[in-house]
Amino acid sequence: MRITILGAAAGGGFPQWNCNCRNCAGVRNGTVRARPRTQSSIFVRSDEHADGVLFNASPDVLEQIRSHPALQPARGLRDSAIAGVVLIDGQIDHATGLFMLRERATPLPLWCTDPVAEDLSSGNPILRVLGHYCGVRRERIALDGSSFEVPGAPGLGLRALPLSSKAAPYSPHREQPVPGDNIGMLITDTRRGTTLFYAPGLGEITPAVFDAMAGADAVMVDGTFWTDDEMIRLGLSRKTARDIGHLAQSGPGGMIEWLSRLPSRTGRWLIHVNNTNPILDEDSPERADLTRAGIRVCEDGMEIHL
Ligand code: MLT
Ligand code: MN
Ligand code: ZN
Repeated sequence: MRITILGAAAGGGFPQWNCNCRNCAGVRNGTVRARPRTQSSIFVRSDEHADGVLFNASPDVLEQIRSHPALQPARGLRDSAIAGVVLIDGQIDHATGLFMLRERATPLPLWCTDPVAEDLSSGNPILRVLGHYCGVRRERIALDGSSFEVPGAPGLGLRALPLSSKAAPYSPHREQPVPGDNIGMLITDTRRGTTLFYAPGLGEITPAVFDAMAGADAVMVDGTFWTDDEMIRLGLSRKTARDIGHLAQSGPGGMIEWLSRLPSRTGRWLIHVNNTNPILDEDSPERADLTRAGIRVCEDGMEIHL
């Protein structure tokens, strides 16, 4: 399969519109060696097919499609390589791009869990609003471990794993999490037998999550924060990473420690990186720690072949 990183940043992107933290200011004025990143999304297709699956629809999706001509193959007057959209949660950075895909003649094929469909019909009623445009053909993602395919994107087997994280702030049950608010996806190339574990929002590595990670050829996981109190230390929020459903990379029980327990052959990638995270600075000691641990940081435009 071919995995295209459309957007490697967390909500807000990098640099964030109103932010003057060291990273955001530094990437603007050239004093920090870092690459700008758009908001969290990947596109995956099998080797044999042009059409594939968009995982998450970020508010930057139009810019992402423009910078990746493969997503707009122009085989007809109106055309797209996006056979369907799969949402891993209902957060603003993963769902509001659906609005940008409304100029279609047919309903948009959309896979999400029941709690996400509910949130996107109530707290943030994107699905209802889209009913006035192209409409959505919503398909249910089950949490029982069953595998599904997106028609039009053959050769990819998809399987969801419920994660412990958080529903979006607008969700009626933000503080009462239910299974399916957030999922990780196991994406398998059915011909090659290779698997990617994709989980841009991951609050806790349970035994089931670790097993899924250990069985994959590559993991692409939550790279939001370096420290649990990153936003508090910078005076930008009162919430820890854990409070908003993200496991920080550093320290005991952090993502780096978990990744170090994976089999040596497993590819390790971080995605959904918040603009405050020091790993965005390619010259930072934190980035050097990751490199030593064999962990890579996703950048917009990267292509990974698995
Ligand atoms: C999150 O995953 O916590 C989000 O990036 C927050 C947001 O979209 O504002
Ligand atoms: Mn997010
Ligand atoms: Zn910033």
